[in-house]
Amino acid sequence: MTIHIGATPGEIAETVLMPGDPLRAEWAAQTFLQNATCVNRVRGMLGYTGTWRGHLVTIQGSGMGMPSLSIYANELIRDYGAKTLIRIGSCGAMQKHVEIRDVILAQTASSVSTPSRGIFRELNFAPCANFQLLRAAADAAESKGIGWHVGGIYSSDVFYDERPDLNEQMIRHGILGVEMEAAELYNLAARFGVRALAVLTVSDHLITEEALPSEDRERSFGDMVEIALEAAFA
Ligand code: HPA
Repeated sequence: MTIHIGATPGEIAETVLMPGDPLRAEWAAQTFLQNATCVNRVRGMLGYTGTWRGHLVTIQGSGMGMPSLSIYANELIRDYGAKTLIRIGSCGAMQKHVEIRDVILAQTASSVSTPSRGIFRELNFAPCANFQLLRAAADAAESKGIGWHVGGIYSSDVFYDERPDLNEQMIRHGILGVEMEAAELYNLAARFGVRALAVLTVSDHLITEEALPSEDRERSFGDMVEIALEAAFA
């Protein structure tokens, strides 16, 4: 047990999928894993461990934003020995050619700041995905016949943004989408020598202002879970 995760050490797999929403963790575990058992309920941040095609997998909610994700990723890596962490979540599209429902595989994650700012100080560290996972996820996305993109994303600290000029600069520099967690996941993976990737479904569009209808969210989320699982065990 750690401060925020109630699982015993053997109850967490080396491969962990991390949706922001704990109820998505429950849904994904019930939908895609065999013999899924709940291993964490602390603060309602549900975590489940089961098997997928014979491989042990944990699906643990991260909460929203980098400070929350940082707590769970730190404990999963440092205390439970997680070796592969894949964020599965939603993002807002920042380019016209990226469409609602498309999947973005985050090659890099730019930010204004992350919880690692305190140790990097004047350094602008470039948080990036694990290439093996990225390549395998691209192969998995391609085989599904869905729209998919690989490129940079923006991990923002705010959903209700009072500085639209920051989004404008990200858009101008070809950033594909905005979310709130990946940059710190990539920082931690680099620090502890583990593999990380963020697989993101486009749920809303910052340029066209479209949004994914709620009835479509589950199907799109399912594609993302499959891409993450296939990449983890490729
Ligand atoms: N901003 C930040 N995070 C998000 C967004 C957004 O527009 N959409 C989904 N996650």
